[in-house]
Formats: sequence, C-alpha cells, structure tokens
Amino acid sequence: MCGIIGYTGPKRAARILLEGLKRLEYRGYDSAGIAVNEDLENNDTPFTVYKRTGKIAQLREIVPKELPGICGIGHTRWATHGGVTDTNAHPHCSSDGRIAIVHNGIIENYTTLKEMLSKEGFTFASETDSEVIAHLIAYVYEGDLETAVKTAVSYLKGTYGIACMHKAEPGRIVGARNGSPLVVGVGDGEMFLASDVTAMLAHTRRVVYLNDGEIVSLYPHEFSISDAEDRPIVPKINHIDWEISAIEKEGFSCYMEKEIFEQPDSIARALSGRIDLETGTAKLGGLNLSKKELLGVDAIQIIAAGTSYHAGMTASYLFEQIARIPSQAHLASELRYKNPIVFPGMLYFAVSQSGETADTLYAMREIQRRGGTVLGICNVVGSTIARESDGGVYVHSGPEIAVASTKAFTSQLAAFYLLALNFARLHDMSAHQGQQYCQKLQQIPGLVQETLKLRDTVQRIAKRYCHYKDFLFLGRNLLYPIALEGALKLKEISYIHAEGYAAGEIKHGPIALISPETPSVFLVSNDHLREKTISNMKEIKARGGLIIAIAEAGDEEVSSIADAYIGIPHCDTLFQPFLMVIPLQLFAYFCALELGKDVDQPRNLAKSVTVE
Ligand code: AGP
Repeated sequence: MCGIIGYTGPKRAARILLEGLKRLEYRGYDSAGIAVNEDLENNDTPFTVYKRTGKIAQLREIVPKELPGICGIGHTRWATHGGVTDTNAHPHCSSDGRIAIVHNGIIENYTTLKEMLSKEGFTFASETDSEVIAHLIAYVYEGDLETAVKTAVSYLKGTYGIACMHKAEPGRIVGARNGSPLVVGVGDGEMFLASDVTAMLAHTRRVVYLNDGEIVSLYPHEFSISDAEDRPIVPKINHIDWEISAIEKEGFSCYMEKEIFEQPDSIARALSGRIDLETGTAKLGGLNLSKKELLGVDAIQIIAAGTSYHAGMTASYLFEQIARIPSQAHLASELRYKNPIVFPGMLYFAVSQSGETADTLYAMREIQRRGGTVLGICNVVGSTIARESDGGVYVHSGPEIAVASTKAFTSQLAAFYLLALNFARLHDMSAHQGQQYCQKLQQIPGLVQETLKLRDTVQRIAKRYCHYKDFLFLGRNLLYPIALEGALKLKEISYIHAEGYAAGEIKHGPIALISPETPSVFLVSNDHLREKTISNMKEIKARGGLIIAIAEAGDEEVSSIADAYIGIPHCDTLFQPFLMVIPLQLFAYFCALELGKDVDQPRNLAKSVTVE
C-alpha cells in the first residue's frame, strides 16, 4: 500500500526513482511523484518536485528526461486521506520547499497536529495526513535531519514508513518506520530506501529490513540505523536471491497471466526438498517446534485476509480431515477485535503473501501478546510477519506482482498440504498412507500443467459469459473455499459481482437470486459429495439458471446438465483444490481481458494492504 523509493549515489536520481516506482506500482497507483535535489550548488533553493495523478507512465511525461540531481525520493500512492489529486500526491514539502517527505501509512492524530502547526503559522497545501510530517520536521529542525525526524515521529500516532530529505543536507536521506515496511538497499557507492525490495532489485541484492521504531540515515557510501532511544543498531545484511526475470513480464501480456502459468514451477518450488518419500512425511525446518510440542497441538487456528484466507480455510478442512485436529480459519480483521481465545495446545498460523498485511500482522501480535504461538506462512522473505512470527514456512512462489493473487495461493496450499501431512503422521496416518500422500503431492505440478491446457476452453467460456452482471460460485467441502476464491478473483479484476457459497447452502437463501441472468459456477468433486452437488445443479436448472461446471474430464452426467463444462485432469479428491482453482483464475483473467479492464492493477486495490 503506497510505494516508497529513495536513492542517493552518483547516478541521475530521477531515472532510478521512476524505474523503482514502476516496479512498485502494484502497491498503489492512483498518483505518483518524485522530489530531487537538482540544485546542489545552492542549499537555499527548494527541491524540484514532479507529481501527478495517474500511473507512472503519466508521471514520466512531465519529468524532463535529463533531470539532474543525484539524491531523491519517490512515491506511488494508494489514497487514504484526501482525494486523488495532483496536490495530494507525494512528495509533500515544507512551506519553503527545503524539506521533502514521502509517507506510507496513516497518521491518526493528523488533525490535532495540523491545528497545532497552523497556529504556529504553517500553511497546508493538501488534504492529506502525510503533509503534517513535512511541516512537523520543519518545526523541530535544528540543523540535523535525523534528530529532527526522531523528534517529529515522537509526535505521531499511527503507522508510517517515511523517507525524507533536507536541502541543507545534500546527499542524505532519512527514513523512519512504524508499521509500514522500509528496506535499505546497500549498493556500491550508492544507497536505496524502499518499501519493498523489488524497487531496487535491478541495482542491489543486499538489503537491510528496518524494524518498527528504527530510524535510518543514508549517504551514498554509508548508512546507520538507530532505535527510538537513539541506540545504534547493528544492521543485518540479507541477500535476496530473486532473479530480475522474476519481476519481468517475460513475453506475457500481464503479470497475472504470467503468474497463473508459472504455477507448475512455483508449486514445485514450494514442495522442493520438503517431501520425504521414505518416511512419508514432510521436512519443514523452520517451525521451531519439537516433535513433542507438535504432538501437543490439539487445535489449529489460521489468521489471514483475502486470498490467503481462502488458502487458510482450505487448510482448516485438511487439518480436520487428515490430521483430525480441530481447525478454523479466521479473517484477521475480525479476529483481532474478537477477544481471541488462546490456550495451551492451540497453534496459530498467520498466512500472508506479502507478509505485511496490517490486519494479519496486528491479529498475529494480539495472539502473541496473549502467549500464543503463531507460525507464519509467507512468501516475501524478511517481511514483517515472517520476522515476527515464532517460526514458519516460506512458500517460495517468487515475487507476485499482479494485485490478484494466483501463484501465491497455490504455493500456500502446497505449504499447508505439507504441514497437514506432518500433523497427520503424528496421529492416525500410517507410513504407507503418508508415502501415498507424498506421491500424490509430487504429481500436483504436472497435473497443474495439464490443467493449464484448458486455457482456450476457458477463454471461449469467458467470452460467452463475461457480460453477465452477477455470478454464484458453488462448491462443497474442500471446494467451498475454492468457490470463494473464484468469486473473489472475478470481482477484483473484472468488477463483476460474484458470490461464493457452500453449494449445500444455496437452498437456504441464495437460490432466490437464480434466474437466466445469474450464472452459477459449480465445482464438482469426484467423491461421495458429487451426487449431492449434481442435485444442487439440477435445482438451479429447474429454476432457469445457467451453469458453468468444473468437474473431472469425461464426467458426462455433469456435462449434460451444464451449459458450459470444463473438464480437469483426474486426481485424488483431497488434492482437487490445486486443479479447480486454475480454471477459476483463468476465467477471471479472460473476463477482465474481454471487458478491457486493467488486469494487473484493478481499480481501488493495492497489492499489499498495510493499513487497517
Ligand atoms: C488477492 O487476490 C487479493 N488481492 C487480496 O485479497 C490479498 O490476498 C489480501 O490482501 C491478503 O494479502 P496477503 O496475502 O499479502 O496478506
């Protein structure tokens, strides 16, 4: 949510900032801007600022190609306070233009601060909460930016990731973090500060993650970190092993298409080295729990938001079915304020692609505050949830750029299938059953590859159905969360209204929605629930509803009832979620494409939601 990039070094800052912002655009894309120190000769002149509404491409149009300046900050915005206008775009400056700041987060006490600063004679140009930070720094500045930032942030209530510069301190960028991610990029004679590593991956792979309460001061050749009490922090330099190709489109029309088609590889990566065929178990090194502690787990709770919640919900079915451990998935935004229960033997998982989702992070902290153990299931290495959790599993799906999550979802499933196996093997599952399970899991990447061949079939169906205004997505058991995920995908990128329901639940209300104008997408499992789902399909047909059915290839009964039919490869029912979600992702993608929507950057959304 909002992207931040800062650069200090020998190169033209504007070029590096614009390139970094392009990489960060997925974090927010309603407006963007940069500020650079163009006039190094004269410290009394204001910073040069370019900002405007729209995408980075529009910002590029107004920034001179050869804009000089070797130190600067940039921002891509996802509006919270104040509408989407050029003035509200970041960077924001002090009245004399000699302090420039970019901010990610929400300043909760900004009205009080604004009143206080207005009385002191400061004038405000924008409607944002962020602008108070620029004036506050100006108010307390006494010749050292780092000291001023330390003082200024002590006035702030809320969340922030800040990067700022003062004209009197050329080549210096100061950053501060509380609740919104900031990462230092350590280059060769150049330094970066960004909200995530993708912004600087083309320049350096050596990064330092800031913790809440920390302040960083960067010059081209050095940087230092201190905490709120002014104690120096010894930085831990991490090496990022993502390839630059992982953040390129590589011939695909958009990131979402690329990420959908990457899934055989990303699932294989999530499983790689973690399956022990001999013992029929999984090898998961980072759990930080002994066998005895794992054996003592008698309830599993999962916290997540959006797509990650759907992965967690699928896992809750799995834990109960194969490990026989009571399990429940919770929306993080609800759990935090629910006075959650923690007791010995209860294990929590926090699931998050980005590892930065505020709802999930705060819910996790609340559980930990009550003495609970929370394991993280994250994609982004070094992210806040990954660092603050008590252990966990990285899903290794590689950078996910499209706002609509696809490959992270199937990798989260893969991680949960491994975890469930380990719990099952501690309880009822025999070694032989474990080995069979492992073999089936190993086949998933290949089966997903097969399923992706349905691309043209799904595209044809999407073309036929994308003009309908409402959809129902229906499934039972493990396929119910997958139905929810199908509905979410369609909503977020095509803006078509869609609801996911447990197929058995429709007769309790939603069936009233059925008409020839509301198609239903049925996910039909190949187990004992197949017949029941087919009965639900017939109930819909009897009421004039249209049906798109996804079932195993060659299911003539299902195809004869459905108006459109997608036949997925055969696999064990337990593993069907991996395959069922593929046509749903493709359906959403092709509907959005057909309707001319911006697939990677849907309206009103941002990839990483770091505000509550
Ligand atoms: C997924 O398509 C969505 N964009 C969104 O629901 C996302 O899954 C949610 O915001 C949680 O993000 P996280 O996995 O990074 O925590």
